[in-house]
Amino acid sequence: MFQTDQEIIARINKLRAERNAVILAHNYELGEVQDIADFAGDSLELSQKAAKTKADVIVFCGVKFMAETANLLSPDKTVLLPVAEAGCDMADMADAEGLRQLKAQHPGAIVACYVNSTAEVKAESDICVTSSNAIAMIKSLPEDKEIIFVPDMNLGRYCMEQTGRKMILWEGFCPVHVRITAAQIRRRRTEYPNAQVLMHPESPKESIALADYALSTGGILKHARESNCQEFIIATEIGIMHRLQQENPDKKFIAASEQAVCPAMKVIRLKDILASLENMKTKVVVPEKIAAKARQPIIRMLEETARLQK
Ligand code: 13P
Ligand code: SF4
Repeated sequence: MFQTDQEIIARINKLRAERNAVILAHNYELGEVQDIADFAGDSLELSQKAAKTKADVIVFCGVKFMAETANLLSPDKTVLLPVAEAGCDMADMADAEGLRQLKAQHPGAIVACYVNSTAEVKAESDICVTSSNAIAMIKSLPEDKEIIFVPDMNLGRYCMEQTGRKMILWEGFCPVHVRITAAQIRRRRTEYPNAQVLMHPESPKESIALADYALSTGGILKHARESNCQEFIIATEIGIMHRLQQENPDKKFIAASEQAVCPAMKVIRLKDILASLENMKTKVVVPEKIAAKARQPIIRMLEETARLQK
């Protein structure tokens, strides 16, 4: 039976109330998904919301590691990922066995893991980081310890430059952000000489060197809101353009690369959110044996972040 978007939205709203559900969406999701969400944000903001919500059900519109993080932080809630196949290609580049082998080669090293990682990898880690707090988290680690950083070598290298800490880097990367090349940034700068370049730190080193600011998706949104500048070259996944334009109708946003599209962040549609609430699918549950260990680095990150935000 064909349903209009308005009919689908009405049914989602009815079920959201009946099931005491909250809809969380990442900043890269389709506009229709961000617009129906109770909250849209970056990885850190979404995990903070998931940890604090009073809802019984969390419909997580993002990729699997984000839904897993929500389940780890709120094990008594039902966490639903509307499209079960939505995964993060970078997270899948690191595996627990490989990490155990690397740890064995560096006994005593602290493992800092980017939140874009599987629960199994988190279970082998000491502290989690997101793109918005990575530098602060690395600075918080004891100076006499070696640090292994997994899985994003680009974010890891950026943290090394910013903190002066030497780290052993896992060679993972985001296939979407590697498409943001230095040549593209130079071209955009020539086309828009007055624009500031706001870039996600998953981008390649040569591109970050040309940016005005390296920021998480939440950081890019905040900077664009607060800056007096009127033009911005946005060097991250293009889904963020939706909120940037919505929140700043008088400012101009230019995508650094139209090719920077994360397919996994585009699979959830309104109809999938409705089906998810109707059928209570797909539940994301990290098995307790892994969860007990995987929860610790996330909690350490949230506690350290809360301490710094005071
Ligand atoms: P943020 O934490 O900045 O939202 O980034 C998540 C992500 O997957 C970037 O590719
Ligand atoms: Fe993963 Fe990259 Fe997609 Fe972010 S943009 S979810 S890091 S594949």
